Amino acid sequence: MRAGERNIYILIAIIVIALATYRGIQQAKDPDPGIPFYTTASTELKKRAEVLHKEHDCLRCHSLWLVRNWMESVPAPALDGIGALRSEEWFYEYLSAENPQSILPSRLKPEYRMPSYAHLPEEDRRTLAAYLASLQVEDWFLEDVRKAHYEKLTGEPYPGNDH
Ligand code: HEC
Repeated sequence: MRAGERNIYILIAIIVIALATYRGIQQAKDPDPGIPFYTTASTELKKRAEVLHKEHDCLRCHSLWLVRNWMESVPAPALDGIGALRSEEWFYEYLSAENPQSILPSRLKPEYRMPSYAHLPEEDRRTLAAYLASLQVEDWFLEDVRKAHYEKLTGEPYPGNDH
């Protein structure tokens, strides 16, 4: 290896090390906080709820795990983190209502509104309610969930303190 060549290799090595160090420092300063959503459901509950979600088309209108069916997207509130906003009993009552809009008014055209699932067997409504209640969000993202939820439901800007 000639001296000139070796110097180029050394220079490249220095640049690579410098870049790696720089990235390391940047990440330490501003760690990627990651996805704030999680579920406390058991694997069993999760599996049963996922089958019900498919069967009843929940994800045609709602996003979950940040995934949405964009082809048929409806401005329905996201289900990610919804368990931090409401209780399992509330979900059960809501899913059991003949007219869900009597519990939660809608601003949408009838075809886009939350349908009634009162006809489902009680066990299925309980499973869905338990799963919805398990959909949690880390504290640092809770206010963002509240805001998005409010704006979806009302179509108005969130009145809470802007941070
Ligand atoms: C046709 C679209 C559609 C389908 C299908 C649908 N939803 Fe909804 N859902 C909505 C809309 C829109 C709302 C907001 C209230 C309204 O406008 O009626 C809503 C509201 C909700 C809420 C209340 C959110 C809150 O503010 O706390 C929950 C929970 C929910 N849906 C769960 C489900 C589940 C579980 C299923 C499947 C079993 C489902 N939805 C199927 C459209 C839908």
